[in-house]
Amino acid sequence: MSIPEEFVQELKMRTDIEDVISSYVTLKRSGNRLLGLCPFHREKTPSFVVNKDGNYFHCFGCGVGGDPITFIRKIENVDYVDALKILASRAGMTVPEGKADDGMRKLKNRILEANREAARFFYGELMKSPAGKDALSYLHGRQLTDKTIVHFGLGYSPPERYKLTNYLMSKGFKGDELIAANLICQSKNGYGQYFDRFSDRIMFPIMDLGGNVIAFGGRIMTDIKPKYLNTSETPVFNKRKNLFALNFAKYVVKGQLILVEGYMDVIALHQAGFETAVATLGTALTEDQARRIKQYCDEVVVCYDSDEAGRKATLRAIEILRPAGLKIKVMNVPNGKDPDEFIKSYGEHGPSRFGLLIEKAPNDIDYRLNEMKKGFDLNRPEQRVDFLTQASSVLASIDNPVERDVYSARLSDEMNVQKQAISSLVESGVKHERERERREYRRRVNQNLSVQMNMNNNGNLRAAKAEEAIITIMMINSDIADRVYRELRPEEFVTGYNRSIYAVLVKRLQAGKGISISDVSEDFTVEEMSMLVKLIDSYSPETNPVSAADTYISILREEGTKLSPEQIAGADNDTIMELIRQTQKKKFGHG
Ligand code: CTP
Ligand code: MN
Repeated sequence: MSIPEEFVQELKMRTDIEDVISSYVTLKRSGNRLLGLCPFHREKTPSFVVNKDGNYFHCFGCGVGGDPITFIRKIENVDYVDALKILASRAGMTVPEGKADDGMRKLKNRILEANREAARFFYGELMKSPAGKDALSYLHGRQLTDKTIVHFGLGYSPPERYKLTNYLMSKGFKGDELIAANLICQSKNGYGQYFDRFSDRIMFPIMDLGGNVIAFGGRIMTDIKPKYLNTSETPVFNKRKNLFALNFAKYVVKGQLILVEGYMDVIALHQAGFETAVATLGTALTEDQARRIKQYCDEVVVCYDSDEAGRKATLRAIEILRPAGLKIKVMNVPNGKDPDEFIKSYGEHGPSRFGLLIEKAPNDIDYRLNEMKKGFDLNRPEQRVDFLTQASSVLASIDNPVERDVYSARLSDEMNVQKQAISSLVESGVKHERERERREYRRRVNQNLSVQMNMNNNGNLRAAKAEEAIITIMMINSDIADRVYRELRPEEFVTGYNRSIYAVLVKRLQAGKGISISDVSEDFTVEEMSMLVKLIDSYSPETNPVSAADTYISILREEGTKLSPEQIAGADNDTIMELIRQTQKKKFGHG
């Protein structure tokens, strides 16, 4: 790790776990703990706990847990060092640049550099090359101004399929770096030549929130399929977590973002003054993206095409956005147009018309009810009943009882049915849903409690429990840890998983480092942190932890010498050697 230890310590001191987590999760105080809805799985009953004294969070619904750094790693999907950077910038500190970067970080940086160079290259091709002329006039033909083209850094990938490869290699990039960036490909047969992945396409750089080019979308200018070719998953790009143009929109959001389907929609909208437009990246909206949106605003205008596919996608988006705590407005662009076409089809009045549509857009409940209504002939009594039944289930999905009541009243007015009748339908729907959730919740919690985290316990549950207790006691009591690690060697652990955890703790102790949950996240994965937090969180302290530790150690040693023949057959050499040593020690006593 190239980041100085003192810096990390200082950062940890300045980082308040409540502060960090509450910018993603609404936390309510409950006793001496903070409780909220887990951002890592969908739930309506809070099982996400933040323990301020312990400086850890833990979801007993899905089992995730850890310190503030682990939280950032998980929620931002970044590695340890990037998590430190995010926390540092919150705390107003700058991470000192390290020299000895590890392999993955180096590769990520190289990919970002290559992408930036590639974006420059594509831009140059668009603006200066003869082949780029057609591309440029294509964009002008779609009424993009030069200012917009520059702002979004649009470009053009030339048809020859060697130019980018040569260009980037001349800048010192290696074949494997460029393949990892998904900028070039290698031919499978023959001589394994490299060639450009994108050819003869308009290039849309996709940027992260820091303005790094993390990927490209490439649009072909003819009817050839696929219309768009996008960068596939790379070490710096996850299309399910990023949003196109959020890097621009984040500066201007005022409580609201506009969500559209396509790159071209975003660009046309920004040009028309709607700079809060963002788009997904060729996939349906994900929970991660919804969460990201929620970090910047409280309301989303879903603005998809009004065709069948667009309406389906709208309903799916609503299902994702609501649980993320976002208010939703829905605007289906009229006349089968997408936002880009709509704006343009009204010339100079396009923007103001579009603005009006946004203002008048119904919320998600009204939208769903309206959509539903279309399927019924409300003049026929039995169809009215069917509609009301279905509509009630929509209203039952509203969490807020006052809101439910308002809609029931309105529906009763509209349909000329007693409100009491509608309300009782709605409330029984709510009850039903609650019951289902409670069952699901109990199932999850039970599953989590009973799951022996350490699945690979060689069938020796007693030993595994003893090991877990030892690890827990050590992490909570540093003085006991100091003694135990000198006495108990990792090889004496029976289960592989716990052994590897313990080995890390011993290494840290030998190096004079701390092993409390706040200390160790640099050495563990998010899963391992979760398992450690689970141990600590469910631990009930012994009155005499010192003798408890001794007891667990002797249980472990006892169990360690009691492996069945199958287990011995399956054990590795170290374990067997240890076993022989232990058995002899027992026979001949110490010494
Ligand atoms: N998309 C994709 N791959 C495809 C088609 C579409 O990734 N083969 C994604 C792109 O992100 C695209 C979005 O889905 O922007 C919406 O598709 P579409 O409406 O067809 O594209 P537009 O952005 O509207 O492009 P254009 O107006 O140039 O047709
Ligand atoms: Mn379009």
